[in-house]
Amino acid sequence: MNTIKSYVEAHKNRFIDELIELLKIPSISADPAYTQDVIDTSTAIKTSLEKAGCDHVEICETPGYPIVYGHKHISDDLPTVLVYGHYDVQPPDPLDLWESGPFEPIIKKTDIHPEGAIFARGACDDKGQMYMHVKAMELMTATDQLPCNVKFMIEGEEEVGSESLAWFVERNQEKLANDVILISDTGMISNTQPSITTGLRGLSYVEVEVTGPNRDLHSGLYGGAVANPINVLSKMIASLHDENNHITIPGFYDKVEDLSKEERAEMAKAPFSLEAYKKALDIDSVYGEAGYTTNERNSIRPTLDVNGIWGGYTGEGAKTVIASKAYAKISMRLVPNQEWKEITELFKTHFENIAPKGVTVKVTPHHGGQGYVTPIDNIGYKAASKAYEDTFGKTPIPQRSGGSIPIVSLFEKELKSKTILMGFGLDSDAIHSPNEHFGIFNYLKGIETIPLFYKYFTELSK
Ligand code: BES
Ligand code: MN
Ligand code: MN
Repeated sequence: MNTIKSYVEAHKNRFIDELIELLKIPSISADPAYTQDVIDTSTAIKTSLEKAGCDHVEICETPGYPIVYGHKHISDDLPTVLVYGHYDVQPPDPLDLWESGPFEPIIKKTDIHPEGAIFARGACDDKGQMYMHVKAMELMTATDQLPCNVKFMIEGEEEVGSESLAWFVERNQEKLANDVILISDTGMISNTQPSITTGLRGLSYVEVEVTGPNRDLHSGLYGGAVANPINVLSKMIASLHDENNHITIPGFYDKVEDLSKEERAEMAKAPFSLEAYKKALDIDSVYGEAGYTTNERNSIRPTLDVNGIWGGYTGEGAKTVIASKAYAKISMRLVPNQEWKEITELFKTHFENIAPKGVTVKVTPHHGGQGYVTPIDNIGYKAASKAYEDTFGKTPIPQRSGGSIPIVSLFEKELKSKTILMGFGLDSDAIHSPNEHFGIFNYLKGIETIPLFYKYFTELSK
């Protein structure tokens, strides 16, 4: 057995135990009630990077949550890999749908993970995947095979828009100088077919408020005679898609990149079973934009989705009422060339325009970000591809993802380097959902594959 495999084999139980400890801290960045837990997590990461063999580790304060920065410098003549990850997690709600506590990690076997998977919020997104890099670093320094310089930048606000990270990156270009950025915060096709993510969608996230009468009204005395904000909002939202499920906002598609027939044919080669897809979600049919396949709809096409909608009476029993206000949170996933700020403006103008008389509409933009596409002809991609080939015995397939990591396009702009997205999660790992988990196989495979990326990247850089 080679040194990488034997090191993982010898230390795997500790690797799992350490991740479990990290998963116990509820580092929910969206909820101020967990501020101290988020901060405690950054301290835990700092300690783990020191133990993994970094020369220097520091907690960098920002206007928001701290960024953990660490490095090990070997030689100015060698390339530098910058690892990015996030230690914050999504809120675990709805809690009653969890089979075990979201911050009480347990290992359970599943059909897809016969070796067991760790169930906890953040197991896959992104504590588990980020921690693979910390353990890969430990492995490389302990076995004396770190071939190049390495920097770590682990943030605590990814799930809420990475505002402080943008602030930090803009102010620290020199500190963060690198030859390639390496991230494990995406997924792959399956445990027998690895893939490398070559694209991420952009995002525009807005909140809308529709106001009708100045107070909640009796729905008998006033019903039918005044605009009901919830009825109106529902109608407005419904009108945002036409019968082909195209988005109706004027100008929305103007800059959307059209893929060539050849590119679409290449994409269609990735293994995918529509039957298995439907079965996994308990749906009898898929749904989406006419003229595109499921894999196209969720990666190369832009979307608009309501993420939450509320107003009026939602308590026990019935209350007859016309609410004064109705609200919704809406996300638009964007594809290359769509500018997120421009799309936010288009949405705002359109939504205000379609409001009928009798209500007023307020649109509040939240966060957003640009999409990203990595070319596959650079040495970073090649190094990643060779690494997976060694550990999975199969060439990984390049695949665009539907998710977003908005900071990646900022890295390219500010740091002038490409990002390689070496994800080891599976779509079925339920990130952002109840019962999120991460396969033990995936965790250990990641730790095994990452050192090979360093090796091949250094070799190809010569
Ligand atoms: N790790 C995810 C993004 C992801 C997951 C990309 C799987 C590709 C495959 C990340 O933590 C995330 O959830 N991003 C948010 C955007 C952010 C601005 C809140 C998203 O995609 O909703
Ligand atoms: Mn993530
Ligand atoms: Mn996430």
